[in-house]
Amino acid sequence: MAVLPLYPSGQGERSLEGLYLDDVPNSQSDPFVYANFLVSLDGRIAVRDENGHKGLPRTTANDRDWRLYIELLMQADAVLTTGHHAQLIAIGNQSDMMTAAHKRYPDLRNYRRARGLSGHPICIVVSSRLNFRAEALKEAHPGPIVAITAQKNGRSVSSARNAGIETVVVGTEATVTGRALMDIFRERGLRRVYMVGGPRLFHALLADQVVHRLYLTTVGRVIGGDDIETQVRGPLFTTPPDARLRHLTLDRDASPQQMFACYDLAPH
Ligand SMILES: NC(=O)c1ccc[n+]([C@@H]2O[C@H](COP(=O)([O-])OP(=O)(O)OC[C@H]3O[C@@H](n4cnc5c(N)ncnc54)[C@H](OP(=O)(O)O)[C@@H]3O)[C@@H](O)[C@H]2O)c1
Repeated sequence: MAVLPLYPSGQGERSLEGLYLDDVPNSQSDPFVYANFLVSLDGRIAVRDENGHKGLPRTTANDRDWRLYIELLMQADAVLTTGHHAQLIAIGNQSDMMTAAHKRYPDLRNYRRARGLSGHPICIVVSSRLNFRAEALKEAHPGPIVAITAQKNGRSVSSARNAGIETVVVGTEATVTGRALMDIFRERGLRRVYMVGGPRLFHALLADQVVHRLYLTTVGRVIGGDDIETQVRGPLFTTPPDARLRHLTLDRDASPQQMFACYDLAPH
């Protein structure tokens, strides 16, 4: 599969495979947090299906983007996600990403091992309610799981712990702040944290300027819809984060075409 790099200019066509491999910095002593979204041309990241469940639109999800999503996963010490996503894995609506990736992309099987990374990144689940099925999640996800919550309700914390999930209660706010998450990444020596959660979690990270990079695939298709999500949901930012383009690639042969953009978000 060939793609056309547009920025920086002056490069010829190249293979899509490998476009994002070795792109996430590994040298920082501080955690490096990178996020990834797939968005339609009209800005949708999720819509409701005919059963009323909100999820990634079937009209934008595609294999070429999925390959790059997995290339970013391969470089992570930790994957940061939401209680909602954890529940989808627990109930079998989504498969564990690394297990699916190894089946699908044998060429990536040894990538982590060759770089001294563990077989599975730590899965960090951010949740206020802790209402995902913790035991089922443990069964569905082979790697270590840590739940982070601001929940002061001891019952839901102890039921997650009883199911074998390490559960950390942080902060004094109703929700977990980006700053609190960054402290946890630091304490645990995590260097590359891959944010695959949705718009509320992304907002918390942006509000505290603790997300360094955004990988954004824009599919050249207008999908419409009334009940939609965009990449960020939450109060207006008093200091809106600015992005600086690192690289941009046109997936010319895809149908519809799509753009793979990578932005730096905060000074690092
Ligand atoms: N197109 C894409 O690239 C893309 C990427 C990601 C997600 N999505 C889609 O976007 C939709 C929304 O995703 P999502 O529900 O996972 O994302 P979200 O809006 O970030 O998170 C929703 C849930 O995560 C927990 N949460 C998030 N931030 C938190 C915080 N700061 N503190 C405490 N808890 C927090 C809460 O869980 P509890 O309710 O458990 O307390 C909250 O209800 C989904 O349909 C998903 O498929 C699309």
